[in-house]
This record gives sequence, C-alpha cells and structure tokens, in this order.
Amino acid sequence: MKRRKKRIRKSICIILILVIIIVLILIFKKDKINIELIDNLNIEVNSTITNLDLIKNNNNYKILSKEEVIDTSKLGNKDINILIEHNNKEYNYNININIVDTTIPTIEYKDYLTTTLGNEIDLLENVSVTDNSNEDIDVSIEGDYSFDKVGIYKLYYVAKDSSGNVCKKEFTLEVEDSNMVDNNTDDIIEFTTSKGFSGITKNGVTYIDGVLVVNKTYSLPDDYGNGLTSTTTNAFYKMQAASKLENLNIYLSSGFRSYSTQDRIYNNYVARDGKEAADTYSARPGYSEHQSGLAFDVNQINSTFDDSEEAIWLSNNCYKYGFILRYPKGKEDITGYKYESWHFRYVGVDLATKLYNNGDWITLEEYFGITSSYEE
Ligand code: DAL
Ligand code: ZN
Repeated sequence: MKRRKKRIRKSICIILILVIIIVLILIFKKDKINIELIDNLNIEVNSTITNLDLIKNNNNYKILSKEEVIDTSKLGNKDINILIEHNNKEYNYNININIVDTTIPTIEYKDYLTTTLGNEIDLLENVSVTDNSNEDIDVSIEGDYSFDKVGIYKLYYVAKDSSGNVCKKEFTLEVEDSNMVDNNTDDIIEFTTSKGFSGITKNGVTYIDGVLVVNKTYSLPDDYGNGLTSTTTNAFYKMQAASKLENLNIYLSSGFRSYSTQDRIYNNYVARDGKEAADTYSARPGYSEHQSGLAFDVNQINSTFDDSEEAIWLSNNCYKYGFILRYPKGKEDITGYKYESWHFRYVGVDLATKLYNNGDWITLEEYFGITSSYEE
C-alpha cells in the first residue's frame, strides 16, 4: 500500500515537471522574435546604410528604434541593436554585420616615363591611389628594370589594400642612352608584327612588346652595349647555383661581345668556311645577340655539348631563371641559325615560360611573328 502511494507521488512529480517544461517552451516560443534580415550582412566599408535598412519589410513586428546611419568606417564585425515590440513586450534584437572591403583601389598614373641612362627617377612620383576604405594602400612596382641599362621596360603599378583587393596597371619606363637622346630623337620607327605585337626601333635598337630583339632582320648600332646586364648575370648565377645542387657544372664561356669582337670572330669564320656557311652559325657584326648583353654561351661552344647532362638540364630548366634556348633544333629556317645547345638569352621568366612551352621550344621569331633574314 505504502509502495503504491509512493509510486503515484513519483508519477505526479514527473508529470508536473513535464508540464512545467512544456509551459516554459511555449512561453519561450511565444516570446522568440524572428525578423527577416537583408540577404547579405557583409556591408561595404564607408557605405551609407541605416540600422533599419538591415531589416526586410515585414509587418509582424513593430520596430521601435529610430532610423540611424551605421558607422561603416571600420572593417570587421559590428552588432546593431534594434528595439522591437511584439505582443506588447519590447525586445532588443541583435544583428551582427560584417563590414568588408571588396572594392579595388584606383590608380592615377602616367603610362609612359622616360629617363636617361644612370639617372634614377621616382617611379611613384606621379602615382596617386584612392580607395573606398581608410586603410593603408600598399603601392609597388612589378617587373624588372634597370636605370643602368637602355631599354623600354613594361612594368606594372600594383596597389593593394589591407583586404587584399588589388589593382594592377601597366606602364612603360624608357631608359634612354643620354648620348643618343639629343642626336637621334626623331629616329623612331613604330611597327606591328604579323602576330599583332607592337614594335619600336629607336636609335637603331628594336624592342618588340618591350623585349629587345636582335636577329638577322633586327641589328644593333655599332657602339651598342658594354657588358652583360646585371639582370642577366644575376639570373645566370641563380641558375648556376641551382645546377650545382644537381652536381652539374655550368660556366660562362662567352658573354658580351662588342661589335668589333663579333667582326673579328665572324670574319675568321668567313675566311675558314666561306660566307654562306659562316652565316648559318655566326652572326655578322651588329647582328649578334651577344652584343645585347642579354645572351651568353656556356661550356663547350660546339655540338659536343648537345648530349651532356648540363645541356639537357639547361634546356629543361633555364626558363625558370628567365632564359630561353635561343636557337632550338629544327628551327634553323626560322631563327636563321643552326641548333645551339649552349646559347641562352635572357627574356624574363614570364616570356621564357611561354617559349619553353613544356619542352617544345618556341622561338622569339615564331612568338612575335617576325623574320630573321639579312637584307642582302
Ligand atoms: N652564334 C650566334 C648566332 C652569334 O654569333 O651570335
Ligand atoms: Zn652564342
């Protein structure tokens, strides 16, 4: 009897607890408000938006908050409180917004800058950057150039805000030879190649798409050049160091050759083999890439180098350092020269990678759509 009573009391207790839980759930449910928010709570920095703009029009609740412009000047999370009336009760509704910057900065700049050899100029002097955020904008220059080397350099201004939005604008830096500037300012020929690249021959030096080109069609002035460019030697030493790790021995055999050096070399070959034969493997003075300071020969300068481990490694890896195998096998009629496993030319990593073409080398002539043949 006593046990029965006890059990009944226990059951009543459980039922009571359940009832209390159900009532609490009902109260909580009744009091829960669920207003409809705009689809994207990522709010652009410095945009003008009010607290009430965050809520989609809905008639279920009475909004008691008054309209206020949100301070969107700082990036990051922000809580917005809105006072809502529901069933005669007031609720503080919390909306978490994220202030973001997805707008790229804008750059105002000059797209063509000129200076004379050895005269450094501030490339950022005429650059102004604007952005919708108040954050610091990092502006840098992308691309290789040297104030100590005559050339037309294709470079980029890169403006990056703290949210990683990047704006990239191309500009040209022309480093002129001060000796030539006054004498020859009118000596400019502009042209477009058969592949649509723009070319310019200025003071006797030809640049196609900003790349200096020397072959049987495009020569250099007699007094051009004074050694391998620092970009070329630096890239070579990097490549040489990488090859050492593979236990390979790559060394420079012939770097810069002046007009007069090339004249001597070429005429020696002509005397030995005749002009027609010499033209298949040696450039006439003024037409050698060695005079550009961007090309060099490594190791044995003859076909005994062709099958060496060094030649194979170079052919497969030189592009990573900005070099191309300038006279590939099977392209004799295009370059105008026999295969040279030892001759490399600096063009920069981007172009070198394109010309490497996964091992099936494309020549500068094919890529730009230009010829390589002497006028007579
Ligand atoms: N051997 C290359 C073609 C030169 O003479 O420049
Ligand atoms: Zn060479």
